[in-house]
Amino acid sequence: MELLSVKNCTKRFHSISALDDFSFSVNRGDIHGLIGPNGAGKTTLVSCITGLIGHIDSGEIYFDGHDLTKLHPYEIINTGLTRTFQVTQLIPGLDVVENVAVGIKENDAVRRGGIRKGFSLLFGHPDRQKARDICNRFGIEDILDSGINAATHYQQKLITLARAVVSDPQMVILDEPTAGMSFQESSRFGEIIQSLNTENRITFLIIEHNIPFIFQHATYMTVLNQGKHFISGNPEEIRGNESVKEIYIGNSIE
Ligand SMILES: Nc1ncnc2c1ncn2[C@@H]1O[C@H](COP(=O)(O)OP(=O)(O)OP(=O)(O)O)[C@@H](O)[C@H]1O
Ligand SMILES: [Mg+2]
Repeated sequence: MELLSVKNCTKRFHSISALDDFSFSVNRGDIHGLIGPNGAGKTTLVSCITGLIGHIDSGEIYFDGHDLTKLHPYEIINTGLTRTFQVTQLIPGLDVVENVAVGIKENDAVRRGGIRKGFSLLFGHPDRQKARDICNRFGIEDILDSGINAATHYQQKLITLARAVVSDPQMVILDEPTAGMSFQESSRFGEIIQSLNTENRITFLIIEHNIPFIFQHATYMTVLNQGKHFISGNPEEIRGNESVKEIYIGNSIE
């Protein structure tokens, strides 16, 4: 059953069509991998879905029955759709738990009033415990009350993921989550994604250049190339497709 549906979406930056009549959908319960060469339009697609780069030039985007093109970014989060960014965006002045707690949906003031203004509302908030519980589950309990500078790159990625899932979303979009991780770290990260998918029933859309990771964990995949939909299918179909290998010249898809 379709949870996210993008139909004939076009987004131009001056003369560049970063997305060109692009359509795809994500089914509820899937871990949907989105791959494509550098500059293909993957991050632009995520920014269009989550309302962060203004209006699309044309097309439709529906999530769980909501027309996302008519909603503000904070309203989109309240439909149960969250994202993480390609570059980790943590707040240096807050400790780890606070960085996770700013993701809590119920604390609307955080989003409406700006993070720092809204943050004062989080002191003593019962949802702070919820943020702690997720950190414990992710194995970062030893740095809970530290500043984020105490966290390694991998731990910062987990904090970012924790912030995205603390609001009990229906779907999370991750933009290159395993970039900079060691093999062991990305394996552990993959296990966490799988457990969130099966136990918390969170649907994922994951952009990755880490081809082994995405082939291991995706249940379905879409390839984007030069702003256009290239192919969708299960991982076996994508792996065996000769034309997908061709657009990845210089990159390994084996
Ligand atoms: N804000 C912007 N202004 C102008 N051009 C942009 C902007 N954002 C993206 N582009 C262009 O749109 C195209 C798609 O970029 P995008 O960042 O979406 O690609 P990507 O698939 O995420 O690439 P990567 O794998 O390197 O992260 C590129 O040609 C890029 O230069
Ligand atoms: Mg990108």
